Amino acid sequence: MPECIELNIENEIAELWLNRPNALNALSAQLVGEVNDALAEVERARPRVFILAGRGERAFCAGADIKEFKPVATTVEARARHYSRNIFDRIEKLPMPTIAAVHGYTLGGGLELALCCDMRIAAENARFGFPETGLGTFPGAGGTQRAPRLIGRSQAMWMIFTGERLNASDALRMGLVNKVVSTDALMGEVCKIASMISANAPLGVQYAKEAILRGEKVPLEEGIRIETDLNMFMDTTDDYAEAARAFIEKRKPVFTGR
Ligand code: CAA
Repeated sequence: MPECIELNIENEIAELWLNRPNALNALSAQLVGEVNDALAEVERARPRVFILAGRGERAFCAGADIKEFKPVATTVEARARHYSRNIFDRIEKLPMPTIAAVHGYTLGGGLELALCCDMRIAAENARFGFPETGLGTFPGAGGTQRAPRLIGRSQAMWMIFTGERLNASDALRMGLVNKVVSTDALMGEVCKIASMISANAPLGVQYAKEAILRGEKVPLEEGIRIETDLNMFMDTTDDYAEAARAFIEKRKPVFTGR
Protein backbone atom coordinates (compact mmCIF):
# COMPACT_ATOMS: atom_id res chain seq x y z
CA MET A 1 0.00 0.00 0.00
CA PRO A 2 1.37 3.43 -0.88
CA GLU A 3 2.08 5.68 2.11
CA CYS A 4 2.67 9.04 0.46
CA ILE A 5 -0.06 9.13 -2.20
CA GLU A 6 -3.62 7.94 -2.82
CA LEU A 7 -5.03 6.96 -6.17
CA ASN A 8 -8.79 6.70 -6.64
CA ILE A 9 -10.30 5.83 -9.99
CA GLU A 10 -14.08 6.07 -10.01
CA ASN A 11 -16.58 6.76 -12.79
CA GLU A 12 -13.63 6.99 -15.19
CA ILE A 13 -12.11 9.92 -13.30
CA ALA A 14 -8.72 9.38 -11.63
CA GLU A 15 -7.73 11.42 -8.59
CA LEU A 16 -4.10 11.23 -7.54
CA TRP A 17 -3.54 12.81 -4.12
CA LEU A 18 -0.11 13.74 -2.79
CA ASN A 19 -0.43 12.67 0.82
CA ARG A 20 2.40 13.88 3.09
CA PRO A 21 0.56 16.80 4.67
CA ASN A 22 3.01 17.04 7.60
CA ALA A 23 5.80 17.77 5.11
CA LEU A 24 3.53 19.98 2.96
CA ASN A 25 3.47 17.14 0.39
CA ALA A 26 7.17 17.61 -0.43
CA LEU A 27 8.42 15.30 -3.18
CA SER A 28 10.47 12.71 -1.30
CA ALA A 29 12.05 9.82 -3.22
CA GLN A 30 9.39 7.51 -1.79
CA LEU A 31 6.56 9.80 -2.89
CA VAL A 32 8.03 10.11 -6.40
CA GLY A 33 8.32 6.31 -6.63
CA GLU A 34 4.71 5.92 -5.56
CA VAL A 35 3.55 8.55 -8.07
CA ASN A 36 5.41 6.61 -10.77
CA ASP A 37 3.56 3.40 -9.82
CA ALA A 38 0.24 5.26 -9.73
CA LEU A 39 0.89 6.72 -13.17
CA ALA A 40 1.48 3.21 -14.54
CA GLU A 41 -1.94 2.29 -13.14
CA VAL A 42 -3.53 5.39 -14.73
CA GLU A 43 -1.90 4.59 -18.08
CA ARG A 44 -3.39 1.08 -17.88
CA ALA A 45 -6.86 2.15 -16.71
CA ARG A 46 -7.16 5.06 -19.19
CA PRO A 47 -9.70 7.13 -17.22
CA ARG A 48 -11.42 10.02 -19.03
CA VAL A 49 -9.83 12.69 -16.83
CA PHE A 50 -6.83 12.79 -14.46
CA ILE A 51 -6.85 15.09 -11.41
CA LEU A 52 -3.75 15.85 -9.31
CA ALA A 53 -4.34 17.29 -5.84
CA GLY A 54 -2.70 17.59 -2.42
CA ARG A 55 -3.97 16.42 0.97
CA GLY A 56 -3.93 18.69 4.01
CA GLU A 57 -4.98 22.29 4.41
CA ARG A 58 -1.66 24.02 3.83
CA ALA A 59 -0.17 22.90 0.53
CA PHE A 60 -0.64 21.34 -2.86
CA CYS A 61 3.10 20.65 -2.76
CA ALA A 62 6.06 22.58 -1.30
CA GLY A 63 8.46 21.17 -3.91
CA ALA A 64 11.36 18.76 -3.73
CA ASP A 65 12.11 17.31 -0.30
CA ILE A 66 14.92 19.59 0.84
CA LYS A 67 15.79 17.21 3.69
CA GLU A 68 16.82 14.67 1.06
CA PHE A 69 19.06 17.14 -0.83
CA LYS A 70 22.54 15.68 -1.22
CA PRO A 71 25.28 17.13 -3.38
CA VAL A 72 26.60 14.54 -5.82
CA ALA A 73 30.20 14.24 -6.94
CA THR A 74 29.71 13.71 -10.65
CA THR A 75 27.34 14.68 -13.44
CA VAL A 76 26.78 10.95 -14.06
CA GLU A 77 25.22 10.64 -10.58
CA ALA A 78 23.28 13.88 -11.11
CA ARG A 79 21.92 12.55 -14.41
CA ALA A 80 20.75 9.31 -12.75
CA ARG A 81 18.90 11.38 -10.16
CA HIS A 82 17.25 13.52 -12.83
CA TYR A 83 15.96 10.47 -14.68
CA SER A 84 14.28 9.31 -11.48
CA ARG A 85 12.21 12.51 -11.67
CA ASN A 86 10.42 11.50 -14.87
CA ILE A 87 6.96 11.85 -13.29
CA PHE A 88 6.81 15.34 -14.77
CA ASP A 89 7.09 14.28 -18.41
CA ARG A 90 4.95 11.24 -17.72
CA ILE A 91 2.06 13.41 -16.46
CA GLU A 92 2.39 15.74 -19.44
CA LYS A 93 2.20 12.78 -21.83
CA LEU A 94 -0.98 11.25 -20.37
CA PRO A 95 -3.48 10.98 -23.23
CA MET A 96 -6.50 12.19 -21.24
CA PRO A 97 -7.09 15.79 -20.01
CA THR A 98 -5.25 16.49 -16.76
CA ILE A 99 -6.21 19.05 -14.10
CA ALA A 100 -4.12 20.24 -11.16
CA ALA A 101 -6.28 21.27 -8.19
CA VAL A 102 -3.92 23.59 -6.33
CA HIS A 103 -4.25 25.14 -2.90
CA GLY A 104 -1.85 26.64 -0.37
CA TYR A 105 1.88 26.41 -1.05
CA THR A 106 2.58 25.41 -4.64
CA LEU A 107 6.32 25.89 -4.81
CA GLY A 108 9.32 24.74 -6.81
CA GLY A 109 8.81 21.15 -7.94
CA GLY A 110 5.18 21.48 -6.77
CA LEU A 111 4.59 24.32 -9.23
CA GLU A 112 6.47 22.33 -11.89
CA LEU A 113 4.07 19.42 -11.29
CA ALA A 114 1.08 21.72 -11.73
CA LEU A 115 2.65 23.07 -14.95
CA CYS A 116 2.69 19.53 -16.41
CA CYS A 117 -1.11 19.41 -16.24
CA ASP A 118 -3.35 20.72 -19.01
CA MET A 119 -5.28 23.01 -16.67
CA ARG A 120 -4.78 24.49 -13.21
CA ILE A 121 -7.68 25.41 -10.94
CA ALA A 122 -6.57 27.32 -7.86
CA ALA A 123 -8.03 27.88 -4.43
CA GLU A 124 -7.97 31.48 -3.18
CA ASN A 125 -5.30 30.53 -0.65
CA ALA A 126 -2.86 29.22 -3.29
CA ARG A 127 0.66 30.70 -3.30
CA PHE A 128 2.99 30.09 -6.22
CA GLY A 129 6.72 30.49 -6.49
CA PHE A 130 10.07 29.18 -7.67
CA PRO A 131 12.38 29.31 -4.60
CA GLU A 132 15.16 27.31 -6.32
CA THR A 133 17.61 30.15 -7.02
CA GLY A 134 17.58 30.82 -3.27
CA LEU A 135 18.48 27.17 -2.72
CA GLY A 136 21.62 27.20 -4.81
CA THR A 137 20.05 25.83 -7.96
CA PHE A 138 17.31 26.70 -10.47
CA PRO A 139 14.05 24.97 -11.51
CA GLY A 140 15.11 21.69 -13.09
CA ALA A 141 11.90 19.75 -13.54
CA GLY A 142 10.59 21.70 -16.52
CA GLY A 143 10.09 25.08 -14.83
CA THR A 144 12.44 27.03 -17.12
CA GLN A 145 10.70 25.52 -20.14
CA ARG A 146 7.02 25.18 -19.26
CA ALA A 147 6.59 28.45 -17.30
CA PRO A 148 7.84 30.76 -20.13
CA ARG A 149 5.67 28.90 -22.64
CA LEU A 150 2.63 29.41 -20.42
CA ILE A 151 3.08 32.94 -19.00
CA GLY A 152 5.72 34.43 -21.31
CA ARG A 153 9.48 34.73 -20.98
CA SER A 154 9.61 37.95 -18.98
CA GLN A 155 7.08 36.94 -16.32
CA ALA A 156 8.73 33.52 -15.95
CA MET A 157 12.17 35.12 -15.61
CA TRP A 158 10.84 37.47 -12.96
CA MET A 159 9.41 34.55 -10.95
CA ILE A 160 12.53 32.40 -11.32
CA PHE A 161 15.16 35.13 -10.74
CA THR A 162 13.43 36.71 -7.72
CA GLY A 163 11.73 33.67 -6.15
CA GLU A 164 8.86 36.04 -5.26
CA ARG A 165 5.59 34.32 -4.39
CA LEU A 166 2.40 35.10 -6.29
CA ASN A 167 -1.07 34.93 -4.84
CA ALA A 168 -3.97 33.32 -6.68
CA SER A 169 -5.30 36.48 -8.29
CA ASP A 170 -1.82 37.45 -9.60
CA ALA A 171 -1.49 33.91 -10.97
CA LEU A 172 -4.86 34.21 -12.70
CA ARG A 173 -3.96 37.59 -14.22
CA MET A 174 -0.70 36.13 -15.54
CA GLY A 175 -2.38 33.08 -17.03
CA LEU A 176 -0.59 30.68 -14.69
CA VAL A 177 -3.97 29.26 -13.61
CA ASN A 178 -7.28 28.94 -15.46
CA LYS A 179 -9.62 29.81 -12.63
CA VAL A 180 -9.64 30.76 -8.94
CA VAL A 181 -12.37 29.55 -6.59
CA SER A 182 -12.93 29.71 -2.86
CA THR A 183 -10.77 27.23 -0.97
CA ASP A 184 -13.78 25.15 0.14
CA ALA A 185 -15.12 24.97 -3.42
CA LEU A 186 -11.88 23.73 -5.03
CA MET A 187 -12.52 20.00 -5.41
CA GLY A 188 -16.20 20.55 -6.23
CA GLU A 189 -15.22 22.86 -9.09
CA VAL A 190 -12.52 20.52 -10.37
CA CYS A 191 -14.92 17.55 -10.30
CA LYS A 192 -17.51 19.64 -12.16
CA ILE A 193 -14.98 20.41 -14.90
CA ALA A 194 -13.98 16.72 -15.03
CA SER A 195 -17.66 15.73 -15.43
CA MET A 196 -18.15 18.28 -18.23
CA ILE A 197 -15.15 16.79 -20.04
CA SER A 198 -16.30 13.22 -19.55
CA ALA A 199 -19.77 14.03 -20.91
CA ASN A 200 -18.15 14.80 -24.28
CA ALA A 201 -17.06 12.34 -26.96
CA PRO A 202 -14.01 10.44 -25.62
CA LEU A 203 -12.17 10.35 -28.93
CA GLY A 204 -12.98 14.01 -29.67
CA VAL A 205 -11.36 15.06 -26.39
CA GLN A 206 -8.40 12.70 -26.74
CA TYR A 207 -7.56 13.69 -30.32
CA ALA A 208 -8.05 17.40 -29.56
CA LYS A 209 -5.37 17.04 -26.88
CA GLU A 210 -3.10 15.18 -29.28
CA ALA A 211 -3.60 17.84 -31.98
CA ILE A 212 -2.81 20.67 -29.53
CA LEU A 213 0.31 19.01 -28.07
CA ARG A 214 1.74 17.84 -31.41
CA GLY A 215 0.87 21.16 -33.05
CA GLU A 216 2.83 23.15 -30.46
CA LYS A 217 6.07 21.56 -31.61
CA VAL A 218 5.76 22.35 -35.34
CA PRO A 219 5.12 25.34 -37.64
CA LEU A 220 1.44 26.34 -38.08
CA GLU A 221 1.12 24.82 -41.55
CA GLU A 222 2.27 21.43 -40.29
CA GLY A 223 0.03 21.78 -37.23
CA ILE A 224 -2.98 22.36 -39.48
CA ARG A 225 -2.07 19.16 -41.37
CA ILE A 226 -1.92 17.23 -38.06
CA GLU A 227 -5.32 18.66 -37.12
CA THR A 228 -6.83 17.76 -40.51
CA ASP A 229 -5.58 14.17 -40.37
CA LEU A 230 -6.90 13.60 -36.86
CA ASN A 231 -10.14 15.46 -37.59
CA MET A 232 -10.86 13.40 -40.74
CA PHE A 233 -10.61 10.31 -38.59
CA MET A 234 -13.29 11.74 -36.27
CA ASP A 235 -15.79 11.77 -39.15
CA THR A 236 -15.55 7.97 -39.31
CA THR A 237 -16.44 7.35 -35.67
CA ASP A 238 -19.72 6.04 -34.23
CA ASP A 239 -19.84 8.95 -31.81
CA TYR A 240 -19.82 11.51 -34.65
CA ALA A 241 -22.87 9.79 -36.19
CA GLU A 242 -24.52 9.44 -32.76
CA ALA A 243 -24.15 13.17 -32.01
CA ALA A 244 -25.96 14.11 -35.25
CA ARG A 245 -28.71 11.52 -34.61
CA ALA A 246 -29.18 12.78 -31.04
CA PHE A 247 -29.44 16.38 -32.28
CA ILE A 248 -32.18 15.47 -34.76
CA GLU A 249 -34.00 13.33 -32.17
CA LYS A 250 -33.68 16.16 -29.59
CA ARG A 251 -31.96 14.02 -26.95
CA LYS A 252 -28.57 13.83 -25.30
CA PRO A 253 -26.00 11.77 -27.24
CA VAL A 254 -24.84 8.46 -25.78
CA PHE A 255 -21.13 8.29 -26.55
CA THR A 256 -19.30 4.98 -26.60
CA GLY A 257 -15.76 6.09 -27.45
CA ARG A 258 -15.85 4.35 -30.83
N1 CAA B 1 11.06 19.65 1.84
C1 CAA B 1 11.03 18.98 3.01
N2 CAA B 1 10.25 19.35 4.05
C2 CAA B 1 9.46 20.43 3.88
C3 CAA B 1 9.44 21.17 2.70
C4 CAA B 1 10.28 20.74 1.63
N3 CAA B 1 10.29 21.34 0.45
N4 CAA B 1 8.58 22.21 2.83
C5 CAA B 1 8.08 22.11 4.09
N5 CAA B 1 8.61 21.04 4.72
C6 CAA B 1 8.33 20.57 6.09
C7 CAA B 1 9.02 21.44 7.11
O1 CAA B 1 10.36 21.04 7.29
C8 CAA B 1 8.16 21.20 8.32
O2 CAA B 1 8.48 19.93 8.85
P1 CAA B 1 8.84 19.78 10.44
O3 CAA B 1 7.54 20.11 11.11
O4 CAA B 1 9.25 18.33 10.55
O5 CAA B 1 9.91 20.76 10.72
C9 CAA B 1 6.76 21.07 7.74
O6 CAA B 1 6.94 20.75 6.35
C10 CAA B 1 5.96 22.36 7.79
O7 CAA B 1 6.72 23.38 7.20
P2 CAA B 1 7.18 24.73 7.99
O8 CAA B 1 7.25 24.48 9.46
O9 CAA B 1 8.41 25.24 7.33
O10 CAA B 1 5.93 25.67 7.69
P3 CAA B 1 5.94 27.25 7.56
O11 CAA B 1 4.53 27.67 7.54
O12 CAA B 1 6.82 27.86 8.59
O13 CAA B 1 6.62 27.55 6.12
C11 CAA B 1 7.00 27.19 3.77
C12 CAA B 1 6.02 27.04 4.96
C13 CAA B 1 7.22 28.69 3.49
C14 CAA B 1 6.39 26.52 2.56
C15 CAA B 1 8.34 26.54 4.16
O14 CAA B 1 8.08 25.23 4.64
C16 CAA B 1 9.31 26.44 3.02
O15 CAA B 1 9.92 27.43 2.65
N6 CAA B 1 9.45 25.23 2.47
C17 CAA B 1 10.39 24.98 1.40
C18 CAA B 1 9.81 25.41 0.07
C19 CAA B 1 10.83 25.27 -1.03
O16 CAA B 1 11.87 25.93 -1.01
N7 CAA B 1 10.53 24.42 -2.01
C20 CAA B 1 11.36 24.23 -3.18
C21 CAA B 1 12.24 23.03 -3.04
S1 CAA B 1 13.37 22.95 -4.43
C22 CAA B 1 12.46 22.27 -5.66
O17 CAA B 1 11.31 21.96 -5.52
C23 CAA B 1 13.06 22.07 -7.02
C24 CAA B 1 14.24 21.20 -7.06
O18 CAA B 1 14.15 20.03 -7.46
C25 CAA B 1 15.56 21.75 -6.75
